[in-house]
Amino acid sequence: MTDYLASLVRLRTDGRILQMREERKARRDPVCADETLAYLLFTVQSLAPARILEIGTAEGLTGAALLLEAENARLTAIEADEERFRLAEKNFAAFGLSERVRCILGDAADVLPALTQEYDLIFLDGPKAQYVRYLPDLKRLLRAGGVLAADDVLLYGWVDGSVPVPPKRRSIVARIRDYLEAVSGDEELVTSVLPVGEGLAVSVKRRKKG
Ligand SMILES: C[S@@+](CC[C@H](N)C(=O)[O-])C[C@H]1O[C@@H](n2cnc3c(N)ncnc32)[C@H](O)[C@@H]1O
Repeated sequence: MTDYLASLVRLRTDGRILQMREERKARRDPVCADETLAYLLFTVQSLAPARILEIGTAEGLTGAALLLEAENARLTAIEADEERFRLAEKNFAAFGLSERVRCILGDAADVLPALTQEYDLIFLDGPKAQYVRYLPDLKRLLRAGGVLAADDVLLYGWVDGSVPVPPKRRSIVARIRDYLEAVSGDEELVTSVLPVGEGLAVSVKRRKKG
């Protein structure tokens, strides 16, 4: 994103979330890019989701922002790191959101197969190399017309080839390409790969015709 486009991003969410995001960024703790959160907030406004799933919730700041935007929504948040999971629970409580959140500590590869309810919006922001492995469960869990947004799919320009891939990163780049090719080629999904943040692959599950 150019500096000009970045200057147009306005994150309209709770001021405490904005402040906490800046603190996390200063510490290089994981948090999605401003333009990614702006896009997710846009999606929440247009989709009015009742059920949201976030894979890799970290400290819950994006999940909290989405719930504050979608006042009637409930969130299932999966996080593998226990310290971050505890912080997420604390943050959801601080925003008065605990009753609307099911926060699950665990590896998404174990948790996803056990989920049964359908979701209107899925934010995939866990381990990038696993995205393609999660895809069958994500498709099962996404309602027709629902949106699956996968973050960090362009990774510093490595994935689209605009920046040479460091040898140590070839494997993760190959796995992300597997994911992009899988969602792009899937006839049940309509997918756009957007240069938002580190790249956001947005897939909508087709409604059945007839
Ligand atoms: C980029 S961060 C998520 C940032 C968060 N979505 C946000 O916007 O604030 C990725 C998170 O995925 C978690 N994670 C990594 N491997 C995981 C796994 N196998 N299952 C669930 N979460 C995982 C990491 O601990 C980390 O907190």
